[in-house]
Amino acid sequence: MSIKTSYKEALNNKIFEVISQASQELNIESYVIGGFVRDLLLNRDFKKDIDIVAVGSGIELALKVSQLLPKKPKVQVFKTYGTAMLRFEDTEIEFVGARKESYHFESRNPVVENGTLEDDQNRRDFTINALALSLNAANFGELSDPFNGLEDLKNKIIRTPLDPDITFSDDPLRMLRGIRFANQLGFDIEENSLNSITKNANRIKIISGERIVDELNKILSTDKPSVGFLLLFKTGLLDIILPELTALNQVEEIEGHTHKNNFYHTLEVVDNICPHTDDVWLRWSALLHDIGKAPTKRFNKKQGWTFHGHEFLGGKMAKKIFERLHMPLNHKMKFVQKMVMMSSRPIVLSQDTVTDSAVRRLVFDAGEDVENLMTLCEADITTKNPNKFKKYHNNFVIVRKKIVEVEERDQVRNFQPPISGEEIMEKFNLKPSKEIGMLKEAIKEAILEGEIPNEYEAAYQFMLKRAAKIGLKINAC
Ligand code: CTP
Repeated sequence: MSIKTSYKEALNNKIFEVISQASQELNIESYVIGGFVRDLLLNRDFKKDIDIVAVGSGIELALKVSQLLPKKPKVQVFKTYGTAMLRFEDTEIEFVGARKESYHFESRNPVVENGTLEDDQNRRDFTINALALSLNAANFGELSDPFNGLEDLKNKIIRTPLDPDITFSDDPLRMLRGIRFANQLGFDIEENSLNSITKNANRIKIISGERIVDELNKILSTDKPSVGFLLLFKTGLLDIILPELTALNQVEEIEGHTHKNNFYHTLEVVDNICPHTDDVWLRWSALLHDIGKAPTKRFNKKQGWTFHGHEFLGGKMAKKIFERLHMPLNHKMKFVQKMVMMSSRPIVLSQDTVTDSAVRRLVFDAGEDVENLMTLCEADITTKNPNKFKKYHNNFVIVRKKIVEVEERDQVRNFQPPISGEEIMEKFNLKPSKEIGMLKEAIKEAILEGEIPNEYEAAYQFMLKRAAKIGLKINAC
């Protein structure tokens, strides 16, 4: 296979022409490198981010490029890192000077020592990310591939350019990146590189939660996240990042009773949900839905294995995970927590005859998230017994139908009490007191139980009867 091939055509874009001209004027070499080249060669969708390496000052090159562009876009300069960024159309173009020795990606103390293109390629994470295309007039579009990255692309291999122990210690996040790329691209991690991840797994502890979560989100966004999570598990990374998940990897037997391995079950649930949602937070909910099972597991002769209260504890654990990994502690966290806490509700429903009142309560408690909850619970059916599988799914069809019916009739999704506390106070001449709360609660319960419809008149009559029972008299005036 010939390594040097021209990719001139692929660089047929104004921006590359301008960078080439700017380099010539500054009398420096420049190359497009990294993800853009990798994805171009793989015919993957073009991502909105292009990395340019200059053999010289990346900042000067960026400033020159901006001058040459008709709109003279603003250049953002990151002096500490020796990098600069400008926007062209809807693409971010990052400029960096070629570096030697440690390529400290996002390090707080970057060692910036000028180097050649090859020095720079040496310090990149994977051979497939070290491919560079020349933007120099003399050999525009020529591929530079010192580590057979093209071969690795063809053979679907993730491999570090240098000894993997060096590459991973330069930036331990690369261990996660390698697994994420393997998952995203359907590649295998070459044996040495994989062994080195296992060996260096502990080093992930120095990486910030935000960067870790960025990679986890990318793994969760693939079609089959279990591939990535199994690699994280096998290399020991998962035990460090999400020990709550690996704690689920157990099957115990007492007196002939076993329980399922909830770790592998969880991964199956995550894969199951992917065709039904792209929402990464719903995928997180699938990942965390059973984490409360390890700490709540008990055995007793009567019931066998139980996990009482695992949903509630799981919800609390989910919040702790969000805090530990510096994830957003906003409505996203609340959503995941709610999904985990409610994760058994529809299943319990569907094991029995599906009553209207149970469905009404489900819609009341889940509110706007009821469809997401149903999607999670359908993914949660991993039984290998075809009869049970069919039964649960059929029952979920009934539940979904009933949700629509109940909604049409009672609108409990965003429940507003049909009679307000103020009205109760006025009607019975009451000051703020527990009776008001009791009446409101009784009305809500009657609606959820289906005793009365969610309408003012029915609620009013119900309130009068209930008030009489507790000796309240209606205000005469
Ligand atoms: N890179 C690296 N080590 C890192 C991060 C990045 O060596 N920890 C190098 C790689 O050459 C990579 C390039 O910087 O290709 C650009 O990084 P980035 O934009 O983060 O990733 P991409 O490879 O472009 O891919 P993606 O956007 O999917 O993350």
